[in-house]
Amino acid sequence: MADLDDIRDGDNFGLNTPADTNSFYLKGMNSVDWGIKNRMSRIFNRKSGRTVMLAFDHGFLMGPTSGLERIDLNIAPLAEHADCLMGTRGMIRSCIPAENTKPICLRTDTGTTILTEMNHNVLLDEAEAISMNATAMAAMIAVGDAATEALTIANISRLVDVGQKYSIPVMGVTAVGKDMARDSRYFGLAARVCAENGASIVKTYYTEGFENVVAATPVPVVIAGGKKLPEIEALELAYNAIQCGAAGVDMGRNVFQSEAPLAMIKAVAGVVHDGLKPAEGLELFNDLKNA
Ligand code: 5RP
Repeated sequence: MADLDDIRDGDNFGLNTPADTNSFYLKGMNSVDWGIKNRMSRIFNRKSGRTVMLAFDHGFLMGPTSGLERIDLNIAPLAEHADCLMGTRGMIRSCIPAENTKPICLRTDTGTTILTEMNHNVLLDEAEAISMNATAMAAMIAVGDAATEALTIANISRLVDVGQKYSIPVMGVTAVGKDMARDSRYFGLAARVCAENGASIVKTYYTEGFENVVAATPVPVVIAGGKKLPEIEALELAYNAIQCGAAGVDMGRNVFQSEAPLAMIKAVAGVVHDGLKPAEGLELFNDLKNA
């Protein structure tokens, strides 16, 4: 029983400070649950509103591709410089120390490799994402691919159902269909399909007209880096995407296949978070590489 003789009346109600009714800082997130907002806040820097995610999930399709031969050696040391790590359960469990405090975006669809017809994917059991303490879950949609479009859209829709239940945001990844033009019309359609199905983050590719893709996608959009480019071009890609309204990058090969991955992830972060121009990012890259 609480003491009744020492109930101190409150006298600090902040009457001159109205309750904060500001919107949540990420677009499209006002009406989502507290848990999703909280997880999104772990992924997207509060000050810049952006993120540098490090993608190393490529092996589930490609095997030990260049730069990912030893994730314990190649990726683990970069982790502290990323805002979020995107990988598969196998690589995260076996190669990323459990002491890691960076949020994990868990790749949750799997099924086929580059050696066969891709994208015939199924989802992991949701218990996996929860047991791995995933901050977000990612799955791909193959818009425009007659064989797998329906399956992959059903996957993302089901993943959002699970995410809603446990307040885990879903990142929709737009696949590059073999016969589809890599243009803003196609990526805009695919990005929109992710958002329409409830994704909280959309990962797609930078193209000309990208501002239209971002404008028509009402949740944060991040770009993949795609195949390895010279560092200056990868920094330009990130810069241009940010100028068009992207909320960051989820970059893989242009970081881990760089001649200096640590310098590169710091340079990308300079562009994404600190407003560096591509040439300034390259200068930072060179300084760090030669240090
Ligand atoms: C493909 C993915 C990859 O993680 C993605 O392509 C990012 O890597 P990169 O920057 O190397 O393109 O989600 O399904």
